[in-house]
Amino acid sequence: MKATAVANSNIALIKYWGKRDEKLILPKNSSLSFTMDDQLQTKTTVEFDDSYDRDIVYINNEKANEKETARVTEFLDLIRKKAGIKSRAKVISKNTFPKAAGMASSASAFAALAAAASKAAGLNLSMAEISILARQGSGSAIRSIYGGAVKWEMGKKADGSDSIAVQVAPKEHWPEIRNVIGLLTKKEKKVSSRAGMAETVKTSTLYEARLAHVHERLALAEDAIKKKDFNKLAEIIMRESNNMHAVMLDTYPPIIYLNDTAKAIMESVIEFNIKKGENVIAYTFDAGPNPHLYTTERYVDDAIAILKANGIEENIVCKVGDGVRLLEEHLKV
Ligand code: PMV
Repeated sequence: MKATAVANSNIALIKYWGKRDEKLILPKNSSLSFTMDDQLQTKTTVEFDDSYDRDIVYINNEKANEKETARVTEFLDLIRKKAGIKSRAKVISKNTFPKAAGMASSASAFAALAAAASKAAGLNLSMAEISILARQGSGSAIRSIYGGAVKWEMGKKADGSDSIAVQVAPKEHWPEIRNVIGLLTKKEKKVSSRAGMAETVKTSTLYEARLAHVHERLALAEDAIKKKDFNKLAEIIMRESNNMHAVMLDTYPPIIYLNDTAKAIMESVIEFNIKKGENVIAYTFDAGPNPHLYTTERYVDDAIAILKANGIEENIVCKVGDGVRLLEEHLKV
């Protein structure tokens, strides 16, 4: 009753920010992302064994704290229920990047956990079923089930059975795409995305306006990906990031993830694109100030230069990568 899976993080172009069902994790809008390459990865081994009296969780070779362990137990309970088992598990998880730094580590973590735990529990699930499980760990994890460009269809049903991930394009479709990530902070974020988005839904008066337009933006982004039109896609990516951070600021108490460096980078990117006469780099930010500069292979050095000019020396240049997969070799602590 042991299995290991690996999953990569994804960085959204059209963001998920707000739930219509807190328990099942059903979103207010559909979202779209590229799955990243193996540099942003979580590998997880799950072993169910009757000799354990509680779930034991290790993250990056350290025993997880109570809050993290409780979140894993809650998730494993879904799997135990589905598989009809009672055994507790040992979970060993390793990230290749800093957790909770606005780098969507929960996406790769719950995608890998869903695949490894369901396999270890003896369930042979389809990719759609694994994606539904991953979603219940962390919403954005649903999109890490597939590689390439992936859409999370919000669905309409109350039971969440149609709130699933769909691949829009495989990674081979547009191999020139890069995400140049600036490592501005490795600190954990002050407001968790879970708490933050619930506050936005409750208090932001701009939120209704976001919901009225976000689906149109998603359709345009999908079309730009299909046509490989980076100029168009970049405009949508930046306007979407701006829109999400606008409703965050409109939340009360306000949620402010962007700092002065992040804002200076936004300006540098806009200026660079104006000089080029078209959009060749696009910024996007999640629940943290780390800049994600989407671009194409040709402009990677320019994106790195923009980060450096704004004082960010450390970066990761990611390609678009693969979805979740099982591994034969297990992790040890
Ligand atoms: O699933 P969570 O709780 O990690 O929420 C993710 C929210 C954003 O990263 C800000 C946007 C997204 O769609 O990934």
